[in-house]
Amino acid sequence: MTASRIAEAEGTDCLRIFLAAMTELVGRTEDEDCLLREGKPLLAALVARDDWLPAAAATPDSQHYQQHLLHCDPLERFSVVSFVWGPGQATPIHDHGVWGLVGMLRGAESCRNYVWHEGSLAPVGSHLLRAGQVLSLSPRHGDLHAVANAHSDRTSISVHVYGANIGAVARSVFDPATGARKPFVSGYANSDIPNIWDRSEAVRRGLTNATAVTRSLGD
Ligand SMILES: [Fe+2]
Repeated sequence: MTASRIAEAEGTDCLRIFLAAMTELVGRTEDEDCLLREGKPLLAALVARDDWLPAAAATPDSQHYQQHLLHCDPLERFSVVSFVWGPGQATPIHDHGVWGLVGMLRGAESCRNYVWHEGSLAPVGSHLLRAGQVLSLSPRHGDLHAVANAHSDRTSISVHVYGANIGAVARSVFDPATGARKPFVSGYANSDIPNIWDRSEAVRRGLTNATAVTRSLGD
């Protein structure tokens, strides 16, 4: 089972296995319920451990939360980002336009949901997402929310999967008082993405083991 492979992988390998599983999933179905249902345990396995996110993708900015691209599917069917929240940092009310999964890797974030009510934005509850937890979101069920680092004294990090190249999606932020919509495109904070493809050490270990077996057979 892929979730157990993610759990057992060494270091960054768990990200590569997760991405392979997500690639297989989006290739197999376009059904949003299926994507969210099957993607959720994969992301849960990834954020159940905190030993794989490269430091460059875990670095906060003193002024603004950071969205680091970890991977974008070549066909832009999904992307994976790390959200790095400095103490007290928060988003405005925003939409997404595509399905999403949010997994809490480190710390915690608070989320307040909104709906349109008689031309105004009305809050409809909030929740706290703690390390190891995963939630899903869908435009079909309403995806307007504002998110903040739940901690005022430390960094929090969440890992998000979106059903598009999220940094290039035309989205909106909203004024909470007037409901006024303002278009935005998030982009990404980073220009380099993690190298998940250098598996040379594992291959070398395999060669060493094979050499040892060969020697043993020859002895
Ligand atoms: Fe969001």
